[in-house]
Amino acid sequence: MIPFNKLTPTPDEEAQFYKAAEQVIASGWYINGNNCAAFEENFANFTGTTTCVGVANGTDALEIALRSVGVSADSTVATVANAGFYTTTALRALGATPAYIDVESDTHLMALDALRERLATGAKLDAIVVTHLYGLLADMPAFRALADQYGVRLIEDCAQAHGARRDDYMAGSLGDMAAYSFYPTKNLGALGDGGAICTRSDALAQNAKHFKQYGWTAKYVVGGQGGRNSRLDEIQAAFLSIQLEHLDANNARRRDIAHAFSQGITHNAVTTPPVRGEDYVGHLYVIKADNRDGLAAHLKDAGIATDIHFPVPDHQQLVMAESDAAKVSLPMTEALAGLCLSLPCHPKITDDEVDAIIAAVNSWAC
Ligand SMILES: Cc1ncc(COP(=O)(O)O)c(C=O)c1O
Repeated sequence: MIPFNKLTPTPDEEAQFYKAAEQVIASGWYINGNNCAAFEENFANFTGTTTCVGVANGTDALEIALRSVGVSADSTVATVANAGFYTTTALRALGATPAYIDVESDTHLMALDALRERLATGAKLDAIVVTHLYGLLADMPAFRALADQYGVRLIEDCAQAHGARRDDYMAGSLGDMAAYSFYPTKNLGALGDGGAICTRSDALAQNAKHFKQYGWTAKYVVGGQGGRNSRLDEIQAAFLSIQLEHLDANNARRRDIAHAFSQGITHNAVTTPPVRGEDYVGHLYVIKADNRDGLAAHLKDAGIATDIHFPVPDHQQLVMAESDAAKVSLPMTEALAGLCLSLPCHPKITDDEVDAIIAAVNSWAC
């Protein structure tokens, strides 16, 4: 069986993780210590931002970033509906309203024109969350210009796009704030949960630091509403510092695998994404087929695991049934949810496995 992910460390990785864990355990300092500070500094540098604030997971990162830019229960926030209910979960925790924007057919990313049309209506909009889905960097200068034109805050969801870059900018560096998840399967993954918020604004960074720890502005002194507890553990930060050193090389390997798939898969009932440069970090390799379920069954018979990212758009989730936000029509989002199929794409796949996956897709008698 070719699994969808292989998270078990190599012997070399395992030795590094054990050494880091031993050091943290022996230090007796498990939260808010040197490992977290070192990782935050390195990750801010890596992402081309000035401050990184470690938090407990990517959904908290979204929620705290949104709160930090002023999103509250009165706010309306533009976002996409084609991920796993992440931004919607953060918005619901804040009591804010999602304004779902449809996506482009080829990139699966927020359609800039649809956002422009929404802004031009003059209807209330307080922030925009752009998700770099599957590891593909959205056109951030264009989103930045539009957000500035209308005076709307811009947040990047980089949970699937650690290290993606284009021209002279990195994922996470052009939004007011950027949210990251370090869930184990992410391109930069912890050995448990983890997340971070990056920003170039000292004031917004300060907000995030307050909100992530009870609203404290000084130890035991609460400066305002909206605080909660969301911290990145020392042990996870130590693991992440190890993983960060390999991120660019692992992203390059993911890209090579995606490249091989896009060149090798020639089945005429399957649409593959185009070969891309460093603006795509191969978090997920997603193909499209009308009979997606038939293809998944064929690959399963061939010993290849697949997955669907994501089968139910946010506005069609049952828990949204009563909400006005769910009444929106998103034709492309809805169509893609029925077509997309993810193939295994991660740094531990061997070349033989890549060849086997290509051969299996091409041999599908649909
Ligand atoms: C695009 C996106 N945003 C946010 C999240 C939420 O991250 P977490 O699972 O760490 O809360 C994820 C992770 O699954 C994600 O893929």
